[in-house]
Amino acid sequence: MKLILIVGARPNFMKIASIIDAIKTYNRNTAAPEHIKYTLVHTGQHYDDAMSEAFFRDLDLPRPDIYLGIGSGSHAAQTAEIMKRFEPVLLELQPDMVVLVGDVNSTVACALVASKIEYPAKNSGLNTQNLRRKPRIAHVEAGLRSFDRTMPEEINRLLTDAISDFLFTSEERANQNLLCEGISAEKIFFVGNTMIDTLLKHHEKARESNILERLGLKNNKIKTQKPCFATQSSNHTPYCVLTLHRPSNVDNKETFQNILEALMELSKYISIIFPTHPRTMNRIKEFHFERYFEFISLSSGQTVTNNRNIYCLEPLGYLDFLCLMSNAKLVLTDSGGMQEETTVLGIPCVTMRENTERPITITMGTNVIVGTDKRLIIDESLKKIDTGKLPDNPMIRSRKYPPLWDGKAGHRIISILLDRIERP
Ligand code: UD1
Repeated sequence: MKLILIVGARPNFMKIASIIDAIKTYNRNTAAPEHIKYTLVHTGQHYDDAMSEAFFRDLDLPRPDIYLGIGSGSHAAQTAEIMKRFEPVLLELQPDMVVLVGDVNSTVACALVASKIEYPAKNSGLNTQNLRRKPRIAHVEAGLRSFDRTMPEEINRLLTDAISDFLFTSEERANQNLLCEGISAEKIFFVGNTMIDTLLKHHEKARESNILERLGLKNNKIKTQKPCFATQSSNHTPYCVLTLHRPSNVDNKETFQNILEALMELSKYISIIFPTHPRTMNRIKEFHFERYFEFISLSSGQTVTNNRNIYCLEPLGYLDFLCLMSNAKLVLTDSGGMQEETTVLGIPCVTMRENTERPITITMGTNVIVGTDKRLIIDESLKKIDTGKLPDNPMIRSRKYPPLWDGKAGHRIISILLDRIERP
């Protein structure tokens, strides 16, 4: 079996890592002629060291075999450019299968190319009638729906699922969503969550990260809070982790400011650590919102103080971020993946969006959706901090995880593909 694996943006790297692990395990246990061959293609949608390279290092991912170097652009320009540059790769390599993860522009762009391609007939003198002339498409993390078509990711999910041959789902609601859209049950495989495979694999290693020391959280360089949150039985300053990058939250000045006003209120009670996405950093500068933050650069050591308790820093690598998240009292986010990660870590999560495509995180009780309402953000966060447990070793805590979030999704995917792919 010959696969092309696609990655492009930050959340893709954790998802593909588990599939590559599963391929390596299979190849180790199998005679060479039966090995799975794979080519890792990186579109370059994310390209900064902190948004891309750092994840290859932390996750021990192989170097991409092919780098398309797309970079940033409007949705149309980015999607079109990926399509143009991916088509010749596909024609050249002629894989049996293109494996796509998640819901970013790279996912849908490569799905579109793969669905319409036709490999040129080989002039081998054989009857080419039965030879496969196009790849099958496998979509990992299929069926998630926010039912909000103003989200670019929702369009990417709908289109990718509609043209995929193998739809690998991570929660039961996703199966129902796909069936409701008329997708045949034979194409749907409930396998679990590859992003969680990677979290479970790296959780212990992440405990060795020194990010808490580097941020001054271990030696209380960061301000103490009001007494109610300062008397924790922990060996570090209690804090929240914040991430924000959705265009709907940060591209509109009023919405972004409203969220920041809520966070300012919350930061009277607890420090907020904010590894900042480049899109969001651009908006902070454009809207002159610097006054809301302390700035800490871990790479240059530079700091800028505005006497605030919200600490804005550069994006973190996977292990540092996992360590930071694992020790937080609360996570505030508009990310999709972090809603899932906090569910497994047992950390309360307040999601600043109007909806979620990951409803299992709500039913498991870790996540709450608050939209961008200032009062709700503050009240729900304070409530969660008050009731939130400080995680020590969540992996040995007897918590219930969502079905099949057991670290084996990647293996299930590979065995299904091996089982179902018809040989030419
Ligand atoms: C993309 C995904 C989103 C995902 C997010 C994770 C789409 C439609 N969106 O959003 O689903 O949650 O990644 O981070 O695919 N930039 C840099 N350096 C980088 C990458 C981006 O400076 O390495 C800046 C550029 O100014 C760029 C902006 O961030 O214009 C947005 O990047 P883009 O890839 O378009 O979308 P994200 O907001 O990252």
